[in-house]
Amino acid sequence: MVRKGKRYSLDEHGLLVEDVGSWAVDKLKIVTDYVQASSAARRRYLRSEAAYIDVFCGPGRSQIRRGALIDGSPVAAFKKAKVSLAPFTSINISDADPELLAAAQKRLSDLGAPVRATPGPANSAIPKIVESLNKNGLHFAFLDPHNLGTLSFDLLENLAMLKRIDIIVHVSVSDLQRNTDRYTSTDHDQFDRFAPGWRAHIKTNVSQKTFRDSLIEYWSDKLESIGLPRAKHAELIRGTRNQRLYWLILLARHELAHTLWERISSPARSPELDFDAE
Ligand SMILES: C[S@@+](CC[C@H](N)C(=O)[O-])C[C@H]1O[C@@H](n2cnc3c(N)ncnc32)[C@H](O)[C@@H]1O
Repeated sequence: MVRKGKRYSLDEHGLLVEDVGSWAVDKLKIVTDYVQASSAARRRYLRSEAAYIDVFCGPGRSQIRRGALIDGSPVAAFKKAKVSLAPFTSINISDADPELLAAAQKRLSDLGAPVRATPGPANSAIPKIVESLNKNGLHFAFLDPHNLGTLSFDLLENLAMLKRIDIIVHVSVSDLQRNTDRYTSTDHDQFDRFAPGWRAHIKTNVSQKTFRDSLIEYWSDKLESIGLPRAKHAELIRGTRNQRLYWLILLARHELAHTLWERISSPARSPELDFDAE
């Protein structure tokens, strides 16, 4: 079965499973390590709310190519929190594909998770999820889109309305590297969605590297302006041929979140957002 260029199969329960590269394990390790590391802080908010938000949730289970079956992000995050110092009080999921969302919802309810599914796409789900959450809680979001344009800035603006929200975002390096020329043309709006207003601030008649650095700097400034500064260190996820795929980046208002991120990420290996480093 093929959906939007991705391969899926059915597991023994007849539920969809996403076919993924082995690097999905590295991605989930960062996310679940953060879930574990933030559990002492989360414990203090159990009476208000400590929600998990995943609006690109996929089906909740994946098959590594020529490898094992693994949990998808919402299931892995739920399970890790459950065995940490504090569970999540709600697991808020969404996906643009209703069948994938239904599969994740079923898997989570079978595990007894406090799951709430909201139909996608993400930019319609996020405002509803944010509206439903306790504004005094401590929440965590994982944003894992396949490409840059889908990580539209309004998602982050909506999440920023929550007083305490830590976010790990997937920023596609391969998309940025492969498509810089295409996306800067006015026929394409991927960069406009990722970093609205960039055209008035960034020159395009420069080298691709200078352009990419400027775009990320502009995006980072926009994040600061909505009160969600990004961590200095980003975790680079590489493919099986060592190719650069994407960065996982922490966005958070609170100092503690940045301290936890420094503990679980590997700043020594990925010192900066340098899109051309080997
Ligand atoms: C990388 S996969 C998610 C994998 C999942 N986070 C995991 O680790 O198991 C990206 C998901 O985003 C969904 N998607 C694509 N565009 C979307 C949109 N605009 N809004 C919500 N979901 C979208 C796809 O259907 C796909 O399931």
